[in-house]
Amino acid sequence: MQIRTAVIPAAGLGTRFLPATKAVPKELLPIIDVPALQLIIDEAVGAGIDHIVIVNSRSKPSIEAYFAESPEVIAKLEQSGRTDIADRMRAIGRDVRISFAYQDEPLGLGHAVGCAREVVGDQPFAVLLPDELMGSSELLAAMCAVCVSSGGSVVGLKQVPHDDVSAYGVIAPAGAIDADGVVGVLDLVEKPAVADAPSDLIVIGRYVLTPDIFDAIADLLPGAGGELQLTDALRVQARRGPFHGVLRDVRRFDTGNPVGWLGAVVELALDHPQYGAPFRADLRRILRDE
Ligand code: G1P
Repeated sequence: MQIRTAVIPAAGLGTRFLPATKAVPKELLPIIDVPALQLIIDEAVGAGIDHIVIVNSRSKPSIEAYFAESPEVIAKLEQSGRTDIADRMRAIGRDVRISFAYQDEPLGLGHAVGCAREVVGDQPFAVLLPDELMGSSELLAAMCAVCVSSGGSVVGLKQVPHDDVSAYGVIAPAGAIDADGVVGVLDLVEKPAVADAPSDLIVIGRYVLTPDIFDAIADLLPGAGGELQLTDALRVQARRGPFHGVLRDVRRFDTGNPVGWLGAVVELALDHPQYGAPFRADLRRILRDE
């Protein structure tokens, strides 16, 4: 068995990026010259995924437009000898099948994943939150392997200072973390008060889920923030077991807020093969002049 399908919840309104997100969905905001959504898809493809289900809102048709073929633009690029960028344009959506599901009301992450039920079907699948960039496919690939070998759901984990836990889902580990970063999960709690948090291991936006999650989602009642929380559905699975977390000290960027997004763009631009050197020189000058 292999995990072949990934769900990307992308129906959010992106209010933290208004007015930019009035016309451009936040998932299409550029990380240098690539939409954040493309980087998420690349990460999934690198972990063996070949079917992406985007849970979109009907008010964001430009997400579908991004995957439409653009033969005129490609022909112009070819004519002017810009074959490298023409190839990149052609590659969009080529390695993967892209499907869409729709979330018509913003009822929470659990609800968003539930909207993908019919398209996903009865098989394990990954969920990637597009507000978080991971820099590589390594974590997701390791999580898929644990799901296949254990037969249970898996969450991506990161260790944070204990005072930072209340913005996240937090796990109660069943025991020690093994040499591969794998740990059993007894329970999870969404956005606990610091004093009530069962550990300092937070759930980052990567999940590999067995399809019984959809029944748990269908039974959800409003949780933290009045939303239908994915964490509360995971909790049902964790109590049944097997359920694991995979801990990695990944290079994770939270692009869901303007400062995090800026940090990601700057750090990735400094590493960029073409723009890195001139951008570094510019940044040095800007900081000197401050
Ligand atoms: C969501 C999840 C939370 C998880 C977080 C990771 O929260 O509900 O469990 O820890 O993503 O970023 P949100 O960021 O949507 O509030």
